[in-house]
Parts: sequence; structure tokens; C-alpha cells
Amino acid sequence: MMAHIYGDEELEALLVGNTHTKSTLQFLFTFLASCPPNYSFHIAMNYSRFMTAVSAARKASPIRVLTELMQKSPPSLISLAGGAPNPNLFPFKRATVDIGHGTPIEIGEDLMKRALQYSASAGIPELLSWLKDFQRSLHDPPTANYGPEQGQMEVCVTTGSQEGLCKVFEMLINPGDNILLDAPTYPGTLAALRPLGCNIINVPSDQHGIIPEALKEILSTWSSEDVKNHSHHLPKFLYTIPNGCNPTGNSLSTERKKEIYQLARKYDFLIIEDDPYYFLQFEKPWAPSFLSMDVDGRVIRTDSFSKILSSGLRIGFLTGPKPLIDRVVLHIQVSTMHTSTFTQLY
Ligand SMILES: Cc1ncc(COP(=O)(O)O)c(C=O)c1O
Repeated sequence: MMAHIYGDEELEALLVGNTHTKSTLQFLFTFLASCPPNYSFHIAMNYSRFMTAVSAARKASPIRVLTELMQKSPPSLISLAGGAPNPNLFPFKRATVDIGHGTPIEIGEDLMKRALQYSASAGIPELLSWLKDFQRSLHDPPTANYGPEQGQMEVCVTTGSQEGLCKVFEMLINPGDNILLDAPTYPGTLAALRPLGCNIINVPSDQHGIIPEALKEILSTWSSEDVKNHSHHLPKFLYTIPNGCNPTGNSLSTERKKEIYQLARKYDFLIIEDDPYYFLQFEKPWAPSFLSMDVDGRVIRTDSFSKILSSGLRIGFLTGPKPLIDRVVLHIQVSTMHTSTFTQLY
């Protein structure tokens, strides 16, 4: 970041028609000048601006809150409120799963009882905390250290990444909204987007993914006034499959990701990083993700175990700013309720 110390005359000019005092501005400019050259500011995001009225109206489902409370209670507590069946009466008792390389996985009686019971909507606590550590070690997102309202990194388990994507789209899209799409793209995404009635703007790509110049050209439709006034015509998000894009196979270069992230900051849009092929990269080190660059809390990342463990077990996870992930969890509470407990424990 560049800054210079303003002289008295320049300050007087800036103060014309302005209510700020000279000393406040002087302090600000001195502070700017003392920042290291690569210093970047974290400007608080206004997440409510991105949400649909339906998403903003979601409230916690009482039955789900009860289930989560029950799971924190001693086993002696018998609650009739949550509708949880007596796990002693479930017919499946134990299981052993032989795996290709390594020792078999044993699921004993106690674990089986838990695996067959209702669980928390965001995911079982052990898996959630493991996934948060996993994301921190893989991506080291700046948001991991932010406060909850400032876009702190949050994670939730989803029934495959498709569930996460669909719920994110439903959280963000009003009919007529502009959205940017790395074209051509995965038909499952198009099928989820089209019925929502958004205006899809295709961003051209080549073998290195989205072409930043082409994106810049598209974005030049909107003025700085539009950005300042939070015009509802601004694109709400850019959707991209950064590694091994389905169907093109292209991967977005790191340099391009950096340029695209800066454009997202300038035009204040979110980035949806759908990355089910992340773990199948041929070259090490693995490409830095948008999540790893996310100083603002504007990236929602979908990960999937479908391509490496099983697609039939249906497990994936969402990572993004807490105010948005919390909205998705409220949607999960009233739809699937949670991803299969058995799958999560297994
Ligand atoms: C780009 C992309 N996103 C999402 C999905 C859905 O994956 P999941 O099985 O995790 O729901 C797929 C599946 O092929 C995909 O190619």
C-alpha cells in the first residue's frame, strides 16, 4: 500500500466541505505512511447485503436446538422432546470395515448407537474441529483469526459439496441478480442456478482458467459510484472451479487468482470456490486457494470427499465467513437436518 504525508495546504483542500478535523486526517495519513508496503486493510463486510429475504428470515429450529442440547447432556438424561428413538432398539449392533491398505475400522456397540442417532446440523463436534484444523493447515486463511462478525472462518459438514453449493446459491440469489460464472461449467451448478432466475454472466477462460482481463472488461460495466452505493445490479458472486475444472480440466494460475481476488475487493463480490478436485492435484506444492488469500472474508469454499473416499457416502464441507455459513446451517436444520451421523463417524 502506498501512502504519503499530506502537507497543510493539501489538508486544507481535502477539508473543504468536509466535517473531519484536520488533526484526525493528519493522524490517519501518518498511520498510513507508517504501514509496511504490503499492508492490506480488512474492511468489515456487510454480509446482509448479499442475503435473500428468505435467508435473512431464517431462525433456529427449536427441535434442532433441543437435539444439540441433548447431545451435551449426561447419558442418564431421557428427553422425550427431541423425538430421538431409543438407540438400544436399533437393529444394527456392530460393524467391521476392511480397508484397502491398513487395519480394519471397528465400529463397536457404543459408537454404532451414536452413528444411528440424530446429530448436530453443522456436523458432529469431533469432525468439525478436525476439519477446522485441516483447513487451517492446508490454507492458513487470514479469517481464522477474525472475530465472529468480521467474517471469521467457519466450517459446516454437508451431504456432498452439491448440497453446500445449492444452499449457498439459495442463500444469495434473488431473481434478476447478476452473477459471474467461469464458463463452461459443471452442469450440476447450472441446474441449481437456473431455476433461481439469476442473470448468468459467462466469464471467458483459457487453459489457465478465468482470463482476468476479460473479467475486468465485464466489470467495467459498473462504475465506482455503483460500488459506493452498493447498487443491487453489481454481481453478487463469481463461481469458479479452480482445480481441474469440470468439464474443461483447466486450473486457475496463482497469479490470476490474486488478480481476480483484487477485482472482487474492488467490485465487492463474493467468490464461490468449488474445489472437489483439490486433493487430486498432480504437482506439489498444491496451488494456493482463494480461501488462503481471503483477507476480507468474501470466499466460500466447497470441499468434497466424493472423489477420494466415496461419492455414495455423501460427505463434503463448506468453509467461509461465519455470518454466511451460519445461514446455511439454519437451512440444513429444516431440510436434511444433518449429514448422516454414520457417515461422519465412519
Ligand atoms: C465441480 C463439481 N462440483 C460439485 C460436484 C458435486 O460433488 P459431490 O459429490 O461432493 O456433491 C461435482 C461432482 O462431480 C463437481 O464436478
